[in-house]
Amino acid sequence: MSKHKLVLTLRDASIIINRGAPFSLEFANKKQTHTVFDSSKLLFEKAEEGEGFSFSVDFQGSTNLYGLHHHADQMTLRETTNSDPYRLKNVDAGQYPAYSTNSLYGAVPIVYGHSKKRTTGAFLLNAAQQFIDIGYNEKTNASAHFLVEGGSLDLFVFYGPTFQQVVRQFVELTGKMHMPQLWTLGYHQCRYSYKTQDEVKEVVSTMEQNDFPMDAIWLDIDYTDGKRYFTWNPETFPDPVGMQEYLAAMDKRLVTIIDPHYMVDENYPVYVGAKGKYFAKTENGDDYQANCWPGTSSYIDFLNPKARDYYASWFQFDKFNGSTETLAGIWNDMNEPAVFGGDESTFPNDIIHYGNVKHRDIHNMYGFLQTKATHQALMTRDKHLKRPFILTRSHFAGSQRYAAMWTGDNAADWPHMQVTYSECIISGLVGHVFCGADIGGFFNNPESELLQRWYQAGVWLPFYRGHANDNTERREPYVLPEDAQVVVRNALKTRYRHLPVFYTLFYLHVTSGDPVVRPLFYEYPEMVDIDDHILLGSDILAAPVMEQGGRTKTVHFPGDKNTYWYRADQPKGNWTVHRGGTVETFDVDLETSLYFYRAGSIVAVSDNKRTSTKGLMSDHLTVHVNLDPHGTATGLLYSDDGVSFDYQDKDAFCLLKLQYKNKFRFEKIKGNKKTTYSFDHVVVHKLPKTGNVASMSIEKAVNE
Ligand code: GLC
Repeated sequence: MSKHKLVLTLRDASIIINRGAPFSLEFANKKQTHTVFDSSKLLFEKAEEGEGFSFSVDFQGSTNLYGLHHHADQMTLRETTNSDPYRLKNVDAGQYPAYSTNSLYGAVPIVYGHSKKRTTGAFLLNAAQQFIDIGYNEKTNASAHFLVEGGSLDLFVFYGPTFQQVVRQFVELTGKMHMPQLWTLGYHQCRYSYKTQDEVKEVVSTMEQNDFPMDAIWLDIDYTDGKRYFTWNPETFPDPVGMQEYLAAMDKRLVTIIDPHYMVDENYPVYVGAKGKYFAKTENGDDYQANCWPGTSSYIDFLNPKARDYYASWFQFDKFNGSTETLAGIWNDMNEPAVFGGDESTFPNDIIHYGNVKHRDIHNMYGFLQTKATHQALMTRDKHLKRPFILTRSHFAGSQRYAAMWTGDNAADWPHMQVTYSECIISGLVGHVFCGADIGGFFNNPESELLQRWYQAGVWLPFYRGHANDNTERREPYVLPEDAQVVVRNALKTRYRHLPVFYTLFYLHVTSGDPVVRPLFYEYPEMVDIDDHILLGSDILAAPVMEQGGRTKTVHFPGDKNTYWYRADQPKGNWTVHRGGTVETFDVDLETSLYFYRAGSIVAVSDNKRTSTKGLMSDHLTVHVNLDPHGTATGLLYSDDGVSFDYQDKDAFCLLKLQYKNKFRFEKIKGNKKTTYSFDHVVVHKLPKTGNVASMSIEKAVNE
């Protein structure tokens, strides 16, 4: 071995360090080298601006690369040799195109190299702007070449060997979310903006009158007094407390927007208290001022712990006058941070943060730091008794610890709907599982068919919110034509029906790191490039229609000939069964959105009529026992109080194992509470010799 070569061995993995020029690191097991960090293209550049660098990572044997969240693109990272590289610089991306490598609102610089045999990952912990070129060498040797504007070269390599293990390893490093409150998984109704308190009440009551369940209504920037956050417009929201009491009586929550920019106004206490102390600064040491929603504004320097404390203090009930417990969630927007008319609509690189840190080096973390402060604020406000709910537009690796994310200002067209699946599936693979997209598209007016299909597709994304720009036509479900209302109502009910499954999957995420929604290749490594199917956990496969005029849908059933999928979107009696490894085309009218339960699984759903999540966790559930060829099935079901941290601090939860072998049984396998659910209605689905599924109902379940 050459004197330049050093080999470190750790269990089955070895790292070969080639110390000569070029410097390189090889990550290998006994059989093969998988990942190579290559410095032959490593370049450190000293410019007046600062230091940039570049390097390559080769993923040997990988056929598909994934990651580099957030982009609105196909799931597999595309070859960029002859086109623009993927760019990671958080920007206010308004009107962003679907299917492009453009920068959006968030940046998670991890690349996963995948083949059906092995998955590895490389993560650059760096929050400066970067460009990443992706290359495939005859689809057997994939590489990512990073060109980074600043910060340091801090690279983590994850060894896998499966996709599941790589994701778990990454999440172990960057952190996991805590359980969401149950209500946050219901449907959210938003618009830019509901303009008066009466309008808010009317939307909520009309939703209920028309049998559309929902859990939260959202207030965009116009609720404030002239875009001064932590205030209310006295004309249009004269009685915010009364409005919140009305919402609470209907079991709804309120979510309000709080952005990071503060109006320069000597009569605005939030501004005055931060002036000269807690705002980001110019090189001369002055508060940086720029234009955003309120006009001239300054921006909290969230890198400064005291500034975070100051900002957090404004969320307390006695300071945010008019806020009550019903104001249960906070929406952090424009936190790339957005600057109107600025260079690329964000801060210039030379803005200075606390500790003399150049904005250039931490740009992509600004939004992350805002959510950290908001999380701290809600924890304090609610005395650590409630799990905070925050939605953020900008995010970075680890943001999942503080906030859910959504995909920003998409548009009302079919490509933007289609791309939501890869946006949120990739988000889940990089640890940020609580992801959704504006249902219907933010910009422009969706045609009725698109809106209906979007509600159907959105059912399966972890965060489910309708939202629209201020110049769009009203599109709350009840303003739609009667036939479209039927479709949207069914979609919302399908969502609420499956909330016990979603909630259980969030628990499994919190404990293992596995994403709530998954691409097929997460469970079936060979099934790449199928971007319009989604797995909810490992037991539900959804394949909604995502094409205009689509009246057929081709479904790729994962697994081998021993895997079966029951078609579950049909009334009992009409269920059919489909074999793994086959491809089938189904007729689908507008009312139909396909989903399937895996044979061998038990899926417990809530069929009861409801207007929100209230009472859901003490429901009588319908248990679908989906027998495999051996006549057995198993499942998990989680419950807790839906609100507090007792599941963490006192083991106050119940994880049930559901089982079927000749009869249905359930037993607690974790936690020190009894289940709050009951199971009166068990439906056993059997694989047929020919024809439709034979289903039989059992009324009584056995508790062990
Ligand atoms: C941004 C947000 C959008 C919001 C608007 C007004 O464009 O992305 O969701 O409605 O600002 O606050």
